[in-house]
Amino acid sequence: MRVLVTGAASGLGAALVRALVARGDDVLATDVDEVGSTSSTNEGGSTNEGGSTSELRLDIRSDDDWAAASAWVEEHWGGLDLLVNNAGVAGGGRIERTSMADWEWITGINLFGVVRGTRAFVPMLKAQGSGRIVNVASLAGLVHPPGMGSYNAVKAAVVAFSETAAHELAPYGVGVSVVCPSYFRTNLMATMRGEDTDVAAKIAAMVDESPLTADDIAAAVLAGVDAGEEVIVPDQPARDAVALKHADRTSYDTLMRQTAARMKEREA
Ligand SMILES: NC(=O)c1ccc[n+]([C@@H]2O[C@H](COP(=O)([O-])OP(=O)(O)OC[C@H]3O[C@@H](n4cnc5c(N)ncnc54)[C@H](O)[C@@H]3O)[C@@H](O)[C@H]2O)c1
Repeated sequence: MRVLVTGAASGLGAALVRALVARGDDVLATDVDEVGSTSSTNEGGSTNEGGSTSELRLDIRSDDDWAAASAWVEEHWGGLDLLVNNAGVAGGGRIERTSMADWEWITGINLFGVVRGTRAFVPMLKAQGSGRIVNVASLAGLVHPPGMGSYNAVKAAVVAFSETAAHELAPYGVGVSVVCPSYFRTNLMATMRGEDTDVAAKIAAMVDESPLTADDIAAAVLAGVDAGEEVIVPDQPARDAVALKHADRTSYDTLMRQTAARMKEREA
C-alpha cells in the first residue's frame, strides 16, 4: 500500500510507520518536526525491511504543505491507498481556565488539520475510486470527562466529520475510519497548553502510567483498517468506557461527576 502518515516523528505516528514498513508498505512519513529520529532520512525514499519510508515536512495547519504533499504523492506514486490523519496536540482544562486562544489553537490542529488533509486528498481518492482515510480522534471523542472541554469537543468533531465522510465517500469506493483510543504512552503531553495545571497533571499521569504503548495501538489500528472498520476502538479500557456509556448511562454520569467533584475538592 502507498500510505501517508501525519505526525510521524513521535508516538502513534512513528509506531504506525514502523508497523506499515515492516509489513511491506511504502510510507510517506510527515511531521511539522523532523521525522529522522524514527526512520531513515532520505530524499527519494529508502527501502528498509519490507517497505520503504520517505519523508516530507508537513504542518497540517498549512494548505500549501498539503498541496505539496499531494503533488509529492502524485509524482512519486501516482495515487494513494491510505491517508492517516494522526498528528495532534493535547489540550483541555476547566471551562473558565481555557482561553479562547487555546480553543483556537487546538481546533486549528486537531480538527482543521484533519479537515485540511481530507480536503487535500479527496479529489485524488474519488478520481481513482479507491483508498481509505483514517482519522485519529480519541476515546475523548466518544466519552467526555470533565476538565477536558476543548479536547473532547474537537475530538468529537473529528468523529462526526469522519462518519460524515464515510457516508459521503462510500459511493466513490473510498473508505473512512476514525480511531478512538484511551490513554497510551507517548510524548503527547509535551504539547499541552493552558493554564489549568491541575487538570494537565492528571491527564499527564494517565498517559505516563498507561500500560498501553503506541505499538499496541498501532497494531490494533491496522487490524481495524484491514477489517474495514469505520469506528476503531483499539484498546479494552476504551471499549469498556464506550460500553458503559451506552449500557448504563446513570453509572457513567455518576463516574464523570465523581471526577468533577474531586476536581472541585482540589480547588478548595
Ligand atoms: N497518547 C494518548 O494517550 C492519546 C490518546 C488518544 C488519542 N491520541 C491522539 O493520537 C494522535 C497522536 O498523538 P501521540 O499520542 O502519538 O502524540 P505525540 O506528541 O507523541 O505525537 C504527535 C505528533 O504530531 C506532530 N504534530 C503536532 N502538531 C503538528 C502539526 N501542526 N503538523 C504536523 N504534525 C504535528 C508532533 O510533532 C508529533 O510528532 C493525536 O491525534 C492524539 O490526539 C493520543
